[in-house]
Amino acid sequence: MDKIFKVSEECIGCQACVGVAPDNFEMNGDHVAFLKKQPQTEEELKKSEEALDICPVGAIYTEAAKITNDIEPILAKDNIKEVLDKYPELKNVLVELSPKFKRLQKPALYNTLARFASFKDASKLTGVSICEILHTINDYLGVSKKLLEKAPECITANQESENILDKSEDINWEESVERFILNDDTLPELSAKITNLKPQ
Ligand code: F3S
Repeated sequence: MDKIFKVSEECIGCQACVGVAPDNFEMNGDHVAFLKKQPQTEEELKKSEEALDICPVGAIYTEAAKITNDIEPILAKDNIKEVLDKYPELKNVLVELSPKFKRLQKPALYNTLARFASFKDASKLTGVSICEILHTINDYLGVSKKLLEKAPECITANQESENILDKSEDINWEESVERFILNDDTLPELSAKITNLKPQ
C-alpha cells in the first residue's frame, strides 16, 4: 500500500470507522478508535478510505508510503522501550492485544522493566505469542511484508513461546515485579541485560 492510516486525538468515538472497516479500525478502552491493522488488500483499503471520508471530525488521516518505506520491521529481539519511545501509539495497540500490557502505561514499570526487556521477554511475561505481538505491531506500522522477509526469527521464537505457555503459571504484568522475578525463569536473561546497561 502506498500510504498508512492513522487516527488523531480529534476522535470523538462515534465508531463510524469501525462500522465500515471493522478489520482495520477498533475502539480502545477509552472509546477512541485506533488502527488495529493497516489495510492489506484492495478491499480493506477501499473500506479504510471510506472510514476516512465519513469520520465526522476528520480524525482519520494518512501518511505517505515514503515514510513507511523508511520503517524497519520490529523483531523479537528489539527493546520494548526504544520501540515505544519511537512509536508511542503502539502502547494502545499492545494493550488492545492483551490487557496485560496495561502495565506498560505505568511510568515506574515503563522506565524499569521495559527499558531492558525485549518483545520476546514480553511474550514470556504476558503469555501472548511472539508471532502475534510482532504481526500486530508490524501490521500497524504497515511493514508486515518486511517482517515476513525477516521472519524466520519470528517463527522460531513463536515455537519457543508455545513451549513456555504449556508450562507457564499465571504470570502477568499486573503482578508485582518481585513476584514475577521469583517465579519466572527469565531472571538470568533479564539480569544479564541489566548488568550490561550503559550508565546514563
Ligand atoms: Fe473516531 Fe472518527 Fe472513527 S470520530 S471512532 S475516528 S469515525
